[in-house]
Amino acid sequence: MAISRRDFLSGAAVTLGAVSLRTPMWALAAQNAAASPVPLLLGVDYYPDQTPDSLWEEDARMMADFGITNVRVAEFAWALMEPSEGKFDFAWLQRSIEILQRHKIAVILGTPSAAPPPWLTAKYPEVVMVNAQDLPLHPGGRRFTCPSNKTYRRLSLAVATQMAQTFADASGVIGWQIDNEFTLSDTPRCFCNFCRAGFQDWLREKYGSLEKLNQDWGTVFWSQKYTDFSQIPVPLLSGGDPNPGLALDYDRYQSYANVSFMEEQLTMLRQKCPRQFITTNNVGLVDYINERDLYAKLDFVAFDNYPGFFKMLMEEQPNPEGSSWNAILTMVAMGHDFGRSLKAGKPFMIMEEQSGKAGQRTFSPQPEKGHLRLWTYQAVAHGAMGVNYFRWDTATFGAEEYWHGILNHDRSPSPGFEEIRQTIKELKALGRDVLESQYVAEAAVVFDYDSSWALPIQPGHPKLSYLPQVVKWYGTLSPSQTGIDISVPGADLSPYKIVVAPLPYVMSDAQAQKIRDFVHNGGTFVAGFRLGAKNEFSQIVRTPLPGLLRDVMGVTVEDYVPLYSEKPGVKLSGFSGAPDGTCGLWAEVLKPSTAQVLATYTNFQHAGKPAITRNSFGKGKAIYIGPDLDPMSLARVLRTLAASAGVQAPMEVPLGVEMTIRQAGGKRWMFLMNHKSDAQTVKLATPGTDLLTGKARSGEIELSGYGVQVLQMS
Ligand code: GAL
Repeated sequence: MAISRRDFLSGAAVTLGAVSLRTPMWALAAQNAAASPVPLLLGVDYYPDQTPDSLWEEDARMMADFGITNVRVAEFAWALMEPSEGKFDFAWLQRSIEILQRHKIAVILGTPSAAPPPWLTAKYPEVVMVNAQDLPLHPGGRRFTCPSNKTYRRLSLAVATQMAQTFADASGVIGWQIDNEFTLSDTPRCFCNFCRAGFQDWLREKYGSLEKLNQDWGTVFWSQKYTDFSQIPVPLLSGGDPNPGLALDYDRYQSYANVSFMEEQLTMLRQKCPRQFITTNNVGLVDYINERDLYAKLDFVAFDNYPGFFKMLMEEQPNPEGSSWNAILTMVAMGHDFGRSLKAGKPFMIMEEQSGKAGQRTFSPQPEKGHLRLWTYQAVAHGAMGVNYFRWDTATFGAEEYWHGILNHDRSPSPGFEEIRQTIKELKALGRDVLESQYVAEAAVVFDYDSSWALPIQPGHPKLSYLPQVVKWYGTLSPSQTGIDISVPGADLSPYKIVVAPLPYVMSDAQAQKIRDFVHNGGTFVAGFRLGAKNEFSQIVRTPLPGLLRDVMGVTVEDYVPLYSEKPGVKLSGFSGAPDGTCGLWAEVLKPSTAQVLATYTNFQHAGKPAITRNSFGKGKAIYIGPDLDPMSLARVLRTLAASAGVQAPMEVPLGVEMTIRQAGGKRWMFLMNHKSDAQTVKLATPGTDLLTGKARSGEIELSGYGVQVLQMS
């Protein structure tokens, strides 16, 4: 099952210079609405619905002094906007928007379908989700409604339509956020009867005939042959594990149901509000919903970034070593790279950025001095075109009264107030060129929803799961300071020199062909264990592994072995000077046909046999990493392979310093960010100009604790 966040731990035009698109109408409208010298949205999440209206004027004045360009409002205000069914009241919101406009603060409006009012659930109790234990959820929180339910869809669309009619031409309204965090949930899947019917319809459409479905799922096993689509169940408790093909399709259906729910509002908004942008936010890299699908028709990607929340969650884990700020930098960077990659490099927006102690029942430490500035620059360094801080004031009631904002409970400035104000001022002075430039990535890490969904059905090893492997591969490759994209299957691989695919369990014909072409044309492809074990229906392939990519990899898999107390060693003979590594949860024994052996197992029933191989195929190289390598060894292996693929960091930087490069029109900028509390020295390989001070910099420069430098390189 999908893993939760807990487990996994504007003046504002949108930067379109980085993409070769004509500026659409909504971007022009956004640019004009919020007077700012740069193409960057710098805003706050604001809750006039939770604030006495006597304070609205003061809020807007303070925000304008603070320097922000925009707010996001109303995403949880359904009860106020539709106090009873079909009776709408937007007067309060209009008043609030007028006040904000007087102070030149633009508005992003949220549609409220993430939390329905009590009158709705009282009248239509069937709209709640049913969880994996077949129990209905209860109203009172949020994200507890069924994505397939037609009544809920109708009512969600009705309130959004009324909002759109009211605000399509409202001065200062620049865009829309549909719903709130589709990807947030402790119960990411609904198993109710509406979902069951929806699933059956979706299957009818997908397979066309029962004969094909029965064949592709292998329903002859355990006598599950369906003779009518209406017989097909949802994967609830059934005295045995579900059919893997059915279970994988159910994850796909649930993702589709959420995307199509969102798209109902999108279609309406496109028609009624052509001058305003439309997006939705999410919690970052979780796998409940295929976010490539979610954002396909939206204008840009938006997501929420809470580094301190990661810290808090990771310290709850049995081994909290990974919870240092330095480790969290990797998680945050990966979230940004994922967000940017979802729309092939288009700039993204942080719809909610941590501004204080973050959490509900318990909360993270106060960000240290410099953190808030650092995290803002980190987002911009990775390609953000907007940052909204969560939230303006801190609520004195409700489940999030301890989620600290820019104003304290008593409305005094929070500890982060001045730092955020300064950061906004600085960013406005950074200049248009750098903000419109393109993030440079020559390497990609593959993140595949099918593999992420199929693996937990039969992980093979109780501790083996997909997303942590992706994080591990990204984390070991990223300190090489090469720009990384997170590629999803189907994306173009041609921009990259090296593509690495951890745990590539499910492999469709189309995916295999993309990889084949990539290597053939000179790319380096690095696969982790379980390559191509399953086809897209979650059936095991009938050919020797790695299935469709056998000739590309130049090996077959002799055996795959889950590892428990036994920890085989790996002799990295092909990586000069590398000490022996060890296996974690898995080992695959390889039998080369045309590939060359780069590492062998030691201390194992398969001692001496190949563990890592490299094959030449066409103009490129294909490397198979059979073991679940310890992180240090994996880092050595991946960085060596990246270097031989021609991926070179422009210079060495000390651990804890993050470097990203952005470029446009022959100009290059380097972002240097120190994620450690102590000062660090960086030796510049080429001279540059500090964009904030205009001073020339060369040789050694010092970055203060949590310090940032943006250099235009000569
Ligand atoms: C986000 C969410 C917001 C608020 C914030 C702090 O996940 O979109 O509504 O809940 O976190 O919890």
